[in-house]
Amino acid sequence: MKVANIPSFTIQNGNIVLGTADISPGRATYAIPSVGLGCYMDSNTFTEKDVYDMCTTAIEVGYRHFDTATGYGNEKQVGDAIRDAIELSQAQPEVAGGPCKLSRKDFYITTKLANGDHHRVHDAFQESLDLLNCEYIDLYLLHWPQASTGVVDFSDINAKDMALPPDAHPTFVETWQEMEKLLATSKVKLIGVSNFSVKNLETLLGKCSIVPAMNQVELHPCLPQYDLQKYCEDKGILLTAYSPLGRSTAFFTEPLICNLAKEYQTTAAQIVLSWGVRRGTVVVPKSQSKERMEFNITLVDLSAEDMNKIGALHSQPGMHRSLVKFHADDGSVFGWKYEWLGWDMSKGGFVITNS
Ligand SMILES: NC(=O)c1ccc[n+]([C@@H]2O[C@H](COP(=O)([O-])OP(=O)(O)OC[C@H]3O[C@@H](n4cnc5c(N)ncnc54)[C@H](OP(=O)(O)O)[C@@H]3O)[C@@H](O)[C@H]2O)c1
Repeated sequence: MKVANIPSFTIQNGNIVLGTADISPGRATYAIPSVGLGCYMDSNTFTEKDVYDMCTTAIEVGYRHFDTATGYGNEKQVGDAIRDAIELSQAQPEVAGGPCKLSRKDFYITTKLANGDHHRVHDAFQESLDLLNCEYIDLYLLHWPQASTGVVDFSDINAKDMALPPDAHPTFVETWQEMEKLLATSKVKLIGVSNFSVKNLETLLGKCSIVPAMNQVELHPCLPQYDLQKYCEDKGILLTAYSPLGRSTAFFTEPLICNLAKEYQTTAAQIVLSWGVRRGTVVVPKSQSKERMEFNITLVDLSAEDMNKIGALHSQPGMHRSLVKFHADDGSVFGWKYEWLGWDMSKGGFVITNS
């Protein structure tokens, strides 16, 4: 088993002190590997074995950080792959200079509370833990701010949704307050959020006791999220970039990225992911190809000038936009309008303000 040569970032939950986020609260800090494996696979197209095999291969090539969710329906396969890898490594005979044996603490496991589970946080958390069967969860995220009365179908964005409006119970503040109680169980190290804008974080931080350790959002050169990153850094919240490759081929034909790939003798994907990590965000690319997994976990040291060039790509006409396919025809995302999400976007996910 290889060990990847990637940096780790420090991550912690903060306390709210007198309505402000205290970013040096003396709470436990943890290290999170800057590159993780995104484990979302469309269950209409991929089997449980595909998920298991993808995770097993990822462990072989050096991945130790796995990003799954209740909504992906594959926590069991992710947990099985990690446990089997630990067992296999423990069964290997000791060889001087040979690979180190793996244990649970070598892995970083993130999973997420589904929209349909906001009213049953503790039961849903226990179900995730049981499926993962991995002693504890490193990071448990509130997947979306919107609660739903049913199961969200990630592959059908125009499905008649069952999302509750922002002021209906449970609100995301109420759901978060239930998540805060999970920390006392010591079955989870850290809690965080996902798909939260500055607007919704402001509401949350005004009413909660614990500052989220993480905010996982769509982030790549077309959607660099500079304002959100600045806000989160000020509050001690780390960002994870989801769909860091844009879940598409957009960057693989983009002239600037392709030229840099040639210059650094690397791939377009590595340029984009290295940019994400160098600016201090965790990236969780998904790949089921062993070769592409290896690329994705091998970062290059981009110059400051090239960082700036990539960072300015979104300012070209039509480029500042979301690249994921979550945007319903009516301009909502899983039942919430952009306004409720606090996303300055027009239909199709185009950013309105050039921030
Ligand atoms: N919190 C949220 O709401 C949320 C939302 C979306 C995603 N996520 C997380 O983010 C993870 C990653 O996002 P994503 O799957 O949407 O998109 P992504 O990682 O940006 O892109 C994945 C696509 O890129 C391809 N790919 C990967 N590495 C490549 C390389 N080196 N060269 C060429 N193509 C490459 C993959 O195909 P192959 O597999 O064939 O390589 C796949 O088609 C998810 O798995 C999930 O864990 C979270």
